[in-house]
Amino acid sequence: MSEDKPQGSKGGLEGVTVAQSGIATIDGTKGELRYRGYSIEELARESSFAEVACLLWNGELPTKDQLTECERGLAAHRSLMPEAKFLAQGLATRAGPMDALRTMTSALSTGDSEEATNAARALRLTAGLPTIVAAYARARANEPVLDPREDLGHAANLLYMLRGSEPTTEEARVLDVCLILHAEHGFNASTFSGRVTASTLSDIYSAVTAAIATLKGPLHGGANTAVMNMLLEIDDESNIAPYLEDKLANKQRIMGFGHRVYKVIDPRATVLKALCERVAKLNGDPKWFHLSVKVEEEMNRRKGLYPNVDFYSAATYHYLGIPADLFTPIFAISRIVGWTAHILEQYENNRLIRPRSEYVGPGPRPYVPIQER
Ligand code: CMC
Repeated sequence: MSEDKPQGSKGGLEGVTVAQSGIATIDGTKGELRYRGYSIEELARESSFAEVACLLWNGELPTKDQLTECERGLAAHRSLMPEAKFLAQGLATRAGPMDALRTMTSALSTGDSEEATNAARALRLTAGLPTIVAAYARARANEPVLDPREDLGHAANLLYMLRGSEPTTEEARVLDVCLILHAEHGFNASTFSGRVTASTLSDIYSAVTAAIATLKGPLHGGANTAVMNMLLEIDDESNIAPYLEDKLANKQRIMGFGHRVYKVIDPRATVLKALCERVAKLNGDPKWFHLSVKVEEEMNRRKGLYPNVDFYSAATYHYLGIPADLFTPIFAISRIVGWTAHILEQYENNRLIRPRSEYVGPGPRPYVPIQER
């Protein structure tokens, strides 16, 4: 830690540098995000999720052979143990999607081999999360749980397992780009949580489980589901102004807007806006894209706030036929790569993360026996 005390009255570790990391850079005033030096716009245009995973884990873009090996590894580790399928079915009626994902990710550790490296575990977790989410979703909908298909790419297989039919190449590409955009974002709350857990030399499954638990909250990954619920509630352009007026007057947050680091538009939101428009056209249904654009304009006019990554991803996922409460698990399916890259980095050069707090409670005082209170 570079500071012992909270930052003024603001707290929340705002502006505090807690460690060195070689994984991502974020320039909040310029609105720039780079993974290992490569700009997010270029990666979204040129790369694939599997390639970005190799980049984030290993520090360099993979060669053709390395990429093929990584893609094969991801495909080969998609299947869940029979017990995990059983667990998904049990959780489907009792737990929300993020609770189910957190529980099942933790349960994946039971199939671990002691000889496995943490890099192999990172790949296994990345391969397994889509199968967990799809198994849960299908069981919940009383539909048969589908086995993953090794012949499909990461995003295409996820859409196939969720929806029961093979997506078009264009749909799969849209989701793949969404996964690239969500894969990594520096010391965000869930990544930090994972690193704190890893810093105690706890195992990678525990660290990822902690990260999933942290992602769940509406101020972090839970915002994308909340954005879709907002769009569904607003439903029509004429309702935007009264909706925002009411929420803002009651000091409520408008989900999908604002960011701790970006003071200009989140560069991922710009890419997602274009993706959302593209998938709206593919579906021949501009409604949710247009509504999102109007909400963006109105929020900018009223509060000077810009959309973050969660805003346009909501309508994009909706167009892809993904239920709103699965949006946060989809975020986890992508961010697992960033989490594990950070956990590996933490293990490489570990020191226990143990900050201090500024005590503001009562001064020293004598114990009062219970009969005298
Ligand atoms: N709606 C309304 N007002 C807002 C919003 C918002 N979404 N975001 C910030 N503000 C206002 C806030 O009320 C405060 O105003 P004032 O100073 O008058 O009280 C000011 O902006 C600063 O807010 P803050 O809470 O100090 O800022 P922060 O850096 O702690 O908050 C944030 C960052 C993301 C938690 C916040 O912008 C927020 O709650 N946004 C909505 C939830 C959301 O979209 N989360 C996803 C974040 S990006 C993806 C991710 O990391 O998962």
